[in-house]
Amino acid sequence: MLQCSRDNHSINHYRTHPIFHTNGEQIPWANTEEDAALEAKLKKEKEEKKRLKAEKAARAEQERQRAAAEQAQKQQDEESSDRRPPAKRRKLTPEREDGGIGDTEDVKLLRFEIGGWAPSRSVENYDKLNDIEEGSYGWVARAREIKTGDVVALKRLKLDKDESMRTGLPETGLREIQILKDCSHKNIVKLREVVVGEDTLRIENIFLVLEFLEHDLKSILEDMPEPFLASEVKTLLLQLGSGVAYLHDHWILHRDLKTSNLLLNNRGQLKIADFGMARYVGDPAPKLTQLVVTLWYRAPELLLGTKTYGAPIDMWSVGCIFAEILTRKALLPGKNEVDTLTMIFELCGIPTEESWPGFRRLPNAHSLRLPSKNAPGATGAVIRARFPLLTAAGSALLTGLLSLNPDARPTAKEMLQHEYFRQDPKPKHEAMFPTFPSKAGQERRRRHDTPNAPGRGQVASLGAVDFSGIFAGRDKEERGGGFALRMV
Ligand SMILES: Nc1ncnc2c1ncn2[C@@H]1O[C@H](COP(=O)(O)OP(=O)(O)OP(=O)(O)O)[C@@H](O)[C@H]1O
Ligand SMILES: [Mg+2]
Repeated sequence: MLQCSRDNHSINHYRTHPIFHTNGEQIPWANTEEDAALEAKLKKEKEEKKRLKAEKAARAEQERQRAAAEQAQKQQDEESSDRRPPAKRRKLTPEREDGGIGDTEDVKLLRFEIGGWAPSRSVENYDKLNDIEEGSYGWVARAREIKTGDVVALKRLKLDKDESMRTGLPETGLREIQILKDCSHKNIVKLREVVVGEDTLRIENIFLVLEFLEHDLKSILEDMPEPFLASEVKTLLLQLGSGVAYLHDHWILHRDLKTSNLLLNNRGQLKIADFGMARYVGDPAPKLTQLVVTLWYRAPELLLGTKTYGAPIDMWSVGCIFAEILTRKALLPGKNEVDTLTMIFELCGIPTEESWPGFRRLPNAHSLRLPSKNAPGATGAVIRARFPLLTAAGSALLTGLLSLNPDARPTAKEMLQHEYFRQDPKPKHEAMFPTFPSKAGQERRRRHDTPNAPGRGQVASLGAVDFSGIFAGRDKEERGGGFALRMV
């Protein structure tokens, strides 16, 4: 232990003997001016060191922050140039511990092309030439694009009756645009663009710009003095079948095929139009609206209230159109559902469990009392007799299309391969097709005396329709050609 002496102290000495201030802070021994000066110098040096250290730390922090910001900016730039979704989005995919991304091996990803987004052009880019059709809530006009001089058809987007008070686009209109946009086939009308009027908030101000075709088949059939030749019928039917095959191949049901929705240009080309009732379906089919297809072209399963249906409903309509092209008259112009069913049974015979297994279980079949299948001519179709000019092959095709049992109808692809088209006379080349004076190119087309496609407003009430009530309102018996159809 060191001896402490006031006279004999050294720097080491005072360091080993601390004293305390009154406030308790320990300070080194300092009893001379020299000591104090030294002490002050040391303190200053220490403070300076501390300050430098703090400055360095602040600079390092600043540098770190700057580097982080730079990195973030770089990442963002990369993402926007790649058009990749922002980082936050990507994190939504749960990552597995093993680094894999979920069970993706067996999963097929649906890839949709994303078109660019741009504001719709104005309808002012077009000059209206003349109205073509103006119905209760639809309007189609012939117009010319000012810039190119191209003649087009402008179709105003239809408001569903019950949607007229709502804002936002009607579902049917959206489907029509979506489906037409997705379709690219020579027998399907081409949608050039969608344009808007001045007041873009009003749905009536949205127009489809379609390629213009001079005629619709309904107007031609009504006006032509002579029916189409057999070769021409085949050409029309092949074109219709080809368009329908394309739609069905792409999971689209048209659900309103009829002669007024088939357009014809002066180059003999037929195109399917009016996709207001069309929709995408899957396998198995989603729940679908039962009230579809204009009455005269509506398949028996729909009339009998089926809850599931598919492509064969369009093929039934194709059968009705085939017959109408032959005779220039609608095949089944029923006044109402029951009337139409009666006409169908007269023409095609009554269904039996053998010809149409399960038809009895259809909702509206319960309320039908059908004549005995033993009644003369009750179960056989009379198509052959009704279309005497049709060849055996043609008659077989028509009979097939008009099969009561939807599963017995040919698909559109099968129809295209039918013997009927291979027999003489061969289908006429489109370029050799006759031309007709265009009504659409002049004054407004005559409004056809045919029923309209069912409105969406009616759909909700369909479930409440009591068929037996409708039947009770009619005479006890609906007289047909060969048999009586009794309703209960
Ligand atoms: N691209 C077109 N070129 C020429 N005429 C057309 C065109 N599109 C439609 N039309 C005419 O306008 C009529 C009505 O068109 P579309 O069927 O598309 O509309 P809609 O309002 O749904 O009709 P509807 O309810 O009467 O079936 C057609 O029957 C046809 O005469
Ligand atoms: Mg139409």
